[in-house]
Amino acid sequence: MSEMGKDKVISPRVLLFPLPLQGPVNCMLKLAELLARNGLHVTFLNTDYIQNCLFKHTDVQSRFKDFPEFRFETIADGLSEDHPRTGDKFIDIATGIEGVMKPHFIEMLTNGKLSSKSSSPVTFVIADGFYSFAVDLAKDVGIQLMYFETLSPCALWTFFCLPKLIELGEVPFKEEDYDKKVSGVPGTQHFLRRRDLPSFFRISDISHPIFQFILKEIQEIPRSQGLILNTSEHIDGPIISQISTLCPNIYNIGPLHVLHKSILLSSHKASPHTNSSNSLWEDDQSCMTWLDAQPQKSVIYVSIGSLAVMTMDQLMELWHGIVNSGKRFLWALRPGSITGEDAKYEIPAELSDATKERGCIVSWVFQEEVLAHPAIGLFFTHSGWNSTLESLIEGVPMICWPYIVDQQVNSSFVQEVWKVGIDMKDSCDRVTVEKTIREVMEDRKDEFEKSASRMAKLAAQSIADQGGSAHHNFNRLVKDIRAMSL
Ligand code: UDX
Repeated sequence: MSEMGKDKVISPRVLLFPLPLQGPVNCMLKLAELLARNGLHVTFLNTDYIQNCLFKHTDVQSRFKDFPEFRFETIADGLSEDHPRTGDKFIDIATGIEGVMKPHFIEMLTNGKLSSKSSSPVTFVIADGFYSFAVDLAKDVGIQLMYFETLSPCALWTFFCLPKLIELGEVPFKEEDYDKKVSGVPGTQHFLRRRDLPSFFRISDISHPIFQFILKEIQEIPRSQGLILNTSEHIDGPIISQISTLCPNIYNIGPLHVLHKSILLSSHKASPHTNSSNSLWEDDQSCMTWLDAQPQKSVIYVSIGSLAVMTMDQLMELWHGIVNSGKRFLWALRPGSITGEDAKYEIPAELSDATKERGCIVSWVFQEEVLAHPAIGLFFTHSGWNSTLESLIEGVPMICWPYIVDQQVNSSFVQEVWKVGIDMKDSCDRVTVEKTIREVMEDRKDEFEKSASRMAKLAAQSIADQGGSAHHNFNRLVKDIRAMSL
C-alpha cells in the first residue's frame, strides 16, 4: 500500500465490470446506481467504445453527478473503432477480452488506477461471469469478488451441465440431432431439445475456444464470494434451486429494472430520471407519439436486440410475414443489423403501402417504455434475457426468434415453462411468421393474454413492496459488500 493509502481511512469502493454489450452494461449500470444510492463508492469500468456510445446517447454523466464518489473508468477492448461488435463476430469480442482487456485489467487492479496504490482503491469487485480470470486476480490483490451473471439463469444452468452433456455424448451434436431431447440438464428433461441449448453448443469441435471459455467460467463462478442473478424465485424457482447446489450464496435481485425503478420511486428520486435509458444508440421518441395513436394491444413490437444480425433474405421474409398478418407494427431496425454485401435495404415496392399505413420503422427505441405502452400486443423478439424480463413484467406475449448465447434456452422457457409465447427458432419464412403472429394475436389470443398477465403478476411479486424478495436480497448484498470490504 502507498504512503498515502496507509494514512487515510479507506471507504468500501465497489468496482463494477460488465461485459461490453448493451444488455450487461444496462444491468450493471442499474445495479451501480442502486449501490451508490446506498452510500457505497462505485467505480464503473467500461470499454472506451461503450463509454463513448453511452456518453453520446444518454444522460448518464449528469445522472451520476448526484454521487460525488462515482467514477467512470475505461479500458481498451482490442477492437478497431469501426469493428461492428455484432453477435456474428462474438469470437473477436472474446479474443479482445482475453488478449487485450485481461492484461490491462490485471495491471489496473495490481498497480494502476484501481489498485491499493491509487487515490481511489477498489475494495470489492462485481464482475461479469464471463471474466473467469477475475476471481484469482481478486484473491491475489487481497480483495473479494462476486460474479453478476446478466444472462438468463436457465442458460447458466445449461452451462453448468456442459461437462455432463459432454460425458453423455449429448454435446457436441450434429444438425440431424437437433430435435432429440436432452437428458443431461436436470429439471428440463421433459421439454429441452438439443436445438434449445445455447447457440455455442452447436459448434462441432469441443476444443473450440468458446467451449473452453464456458468450461472455465463454470469452474470459477462457484469459487467467488457470491453470485448475483437478474431473476426472482417467482420466475426461476426450480432453476435457482439447481444452481444453488453449486453456488450456495445467490442474490436474486430481479427483475432488476423494476427493482431499480421501485427504489428510485420510494426514495423520491423517481422523477425526472425514473425512465433513464442506458442505450448505446439514440432512442427515437417519435415512435411513442405513433404508438399513442394506435388501439390497445394492436401493435407488434419487433426487435432483435443489440447483437443479433439477419440477412437481407431473412429481413424480407420477416417483413412479408408481418405485413401479410395484417397487424400494425413498430420495428426497431438497429443500424448494422443486416449482414451481407447488399445490406442497404429499401422498403420493397410491394410492401410500401402497407408499411406506411400500419407500420413505424425506427433505428432504436427506449424499449422498457415501448413494452409498457398499452398499444403493444405482441413482442417479436430475439429473446435476450433483458428483453424477455421486460416483456414478462409488462405481460406482453412473445414470438421468439433467438439468435445467440442464452437466447435459444430463453425462447424454449418462454414457450414451455412460462407459457407466454411461441418459440419460432430456426425458421424464418413468411408463411410461418404470418401463421405464428395470427396464432398469438387471433386464434389463441385469450390464452396468451391470460398467461402473460398471470406471469406479469407473478414476476412483479419480488418487487411488490419494500418487503419483496428482490429488496431483501439487494439489502443483503449491500450489507455483505460492506462486511467483505473491511
Ligand atoms: C444478449 C443476450 O441475449 C443477453 O441475454 C446476454 O446477457 C447478452 O447478450 P442483447 O442482444 O443485448 O443481449 O439483448 P437483451 O439482453 O435483451 O438486451 C437488450 C437491451 O437493449 C434491453 O434492455 C432492451 O430494453 C434494450 N433495447 C433493445 C432498447 O432499449 N432499444 C431497442 O431498440 C432494443
